[in-house]
Amino acid sequence: MNLPPGPKGYPLLRNVLEPRGDAVGYFTKCVREYGDVVFLRFLGVPMCFVNRPEYIESVLVTQSANFEKSKDYRALRRVLGNGLLTSEGEFWRRQRKLVQPAFHQQRIAAYAEVMVEFTRRMLTTWTDGQELDVHEAMMRLTLDIVAKTLFDTDVSQEAGDVTAALDVLMGKFMRQAGFAFLLPKFVPIPTTSRLQRAVKQLDKVIYGIIRQRRASGQMSGDLLSVMLQAQDDEGIGMTDRQLHDEVMTLFLAGHETTANVLTWTWLLLGRHPEAAEKLRRELSVVLGGRTPTPGDLPRLVYTDMVLREAMRLYPPVWIIGRRALAPFRLGEYELPADTNVLMSQLILHKDARFFPDPDAFDPERWNASDPRSGALPRFAYFPFGGGPRVCIGAGFAMMEAALLLATIAQHFQVDLVPGQTVEMLPSVTLRPKSGIRVKVKSR
Ligand code: HEM
Repeated sequence: MNLPPGPKGYPLLRNVLEPRGDAVGYFTKCVREYGDVVFLRFLGVPMCFVNRPEYIESVLVTQSANFEKSKDYRALRRVLGNGLLTSEGEFWRRQRKLVQPAFHQQRIAAYAEVMVEFTRRMLTTWTDGQELDVHEAMMRLTLDIVAKTLFDTDVSQEAGDVTAALDVLMGKFMRQAGFAFLLPKFVPIPTTSRLQRAVKQLDKVIYGIIRQRRASGQMSGDLLSVMLQAQDDEGIGMTDRQLHDEVMTLFLAGHETTANVLTWTWLLLGRHPEAAEKLRRELSVVLGGRTPTPGDLPRLVYTDMVLREAMRLYPPVWIIGRRALAPFRLGEYELPADTNVLMSQLILHKDARFFPDPDAFDPERWNASDPRSGALPRFAYFPFGGGPRVCIGAGFAMMEAALLLATIAQHFQVDLVPGQTVEMLPSVTLRPKSGIRVKVKSR
């Protein structure tokens, strides 16, 4: 077997698996030293880092039938159940078909009003000169929006419980993901009573909402109604359990990611006042003080470029993993079955071969007339993954991020509080380690 090169000996557990270790640094060092495909065994488990767009396309698209999600997703499964993010095979295919209609373009456009309305509501609580943690504010806002669009419910009363439970889940997740890589499938992943309590608490809220909705028979236009009415070719819908798992998945997948895009965008705009000014000018020309609608988005070109560039430098999902079912090839290399393939947006998005001056925040590189944007290979930029398992919420997320950014930037200038160091925490998603302090000035 022509295995790719890679380090001999075992890397430290915390280098590879723990967010507080330096997984990103280790991955970067490996690809620098050994090239775009790096093979290593980690306590016997074959692993492969892949850092070349065509090979990423090969794993996610061309050879996707030979891959399932990597073992670390097992840890997520115990929280999310068997929802879209974590399920496999025929079960996943059926669920994807059932859930897909909830994400059709027209359907999500109907949520624009909720998004803008909730943002305006948040802005009424902001005062001129106030200091706040913008990450916390974005998390709260996107949580409220996902709850409203999912089940037409204001989670304000339960939001405290829900966010606390989510925090516990997320905090515990990476540790568990580490174990999940190493343990054989039949060995249960260790858990804690705190985690179980948090899961139970969320379950209670979600089952409560599903039962109430079934009992009342009232169908509003929310995502839950669409999923409740969805049927497969045989006319069979989802069970309560399946609905619960999909709702939980959308709840979790659908808010922290978008909150992070916005948080990092505020950091970048704060550091680049000229870009913030250009954004403000675009908003003023296109909207003239009006509330943005989905119809405005095609003309908010710079807004879109800013968001894309923020997702390049700070991809909310910073790594994707797959496990090979059978031996496979990547170019000249042959790799064994059971290999866990890791592909990192965070590393590839900063590769100078594809992004000249990669650390610079330069939204113009996404300008359609800029030669750099045309020259980009597919999968050099993949914030939403790709292939059959591509993010189902990409359209929802991009619309939400643009509407929220436009609404906030129209009314407030967001300046960074000087003297703080902002560090990335690559957990399940890429978030700032200790929030980002800003001072907001009304316009
Ligand atoms: C900027 C925000 C977002 C980013 C960067 C993002 C990124 C991703 C990525 C990279 C994947 C693929 C994971 C893999 O291949 O292993 C994914 C899958 C998924 N995302 Fe998103 N996501 C975002 C927002 C959302 C939103 C708003 C929702 C729902 C409301 C959502 C729901 C999902 C679901 C259900 C999947 C699993 C799809 C499947 O396997 O069929 N995401 N997301």
